[in-house]
Amino acid sequence: MSVERALLRDKIPNHVAIIMDGNGRWAQKRGLPRQQGHMEGVKSVRRIAKAACRIGIRYLTLYAFSTENWGRPKEEVSALMSLLVSCLHDEMPLFMENGIRLRVVGQSDVFDPSVREALDAALEKTSSNTRMDLVLALSYSSRWELAEAMKRIGRQVEEGGLAPEDIDDSVIGRFLATSFMPDPDLLIRTSGEYRVSNFLLWQIAYTELFFTPVLWPDFTEEMFYGAIADYQGRDRRFGKVSVSNQTKQ
Ligand code: FPP
Repeated sequence: MSVERALLRDKIPNHVAIIMDGNGRWAQKRGLPRQQGHMEGVKSVRRIAKAACRIGIRYLTLYAFSTENWGRPKEEVSALMSLLVSCLHDEMPLFMENGIRLRVVGQSDVFDPSVREALDAALEKTSSNTRMDLVLALSYSSRWELAEAMKRIGRQVEEGGLAPEDIDDSVIGRFLATSFMPDPDLLIRTSGEYRVSNFLLWQIAYTELFFTPVLWPDFTEEMFYGAIADYQGRDRRFGKVSVSNQTKQ
């Protein structure tokens, strides 16, 4: 039986987040420019977005460009920006045919107006789609998001709209740029690195983590479904005891 068919339909994760890593190494291994790796990475984005939709995942969040990525060579940054713009255009049929609503989290005011316009147009065009939210983390870092939330909370306290003693995790969650989405159930990182690189630090408190050595451009639907199958075999306790152990003392 294929990995997809073996998945438990009642245990599909609601939200999967992915750190798409390894584009550069994929290209280097072939003696190609790094940009080629990113282009190949877009094909994986297409594959995995479709695969996620097919099994009923509601939110797919992709770490597409971190705040730290601005520090890469200028040519690579501008190649990534051009790729983003062309991808938003070229993948529109995929978004529309699969009912994908595009969302963006990150510091949007730092983008070139042309990138901003392409993003706004894609957000607008897909805004009525309801099957899956594809969230692109762009110019995103978790510490940036937390600092922004703290500034906004501070202002509310100053204005008298919020008492400091009322600040709890649900209040903080409401002030995050990602407040519209539930916490990820599963976080996948490709390329064999075992770190979370400033991605959704607050939100992954109880997320299941899955690391694979496969480079992002080589990551297939079958591998994605394999990660979901692995997730389905986990016992999520959220700091409590599992149901089967509740009566044992
Ligand atoms: C990490 O690989 C990947 C990125 C920094 C960018 C991810 C971008 C894409 C998959 C393509 C563009 C996406 C969209 C949504 C248009 P790396 O360059 O850090 O690889 P390395 O660690 O092997 O150098």
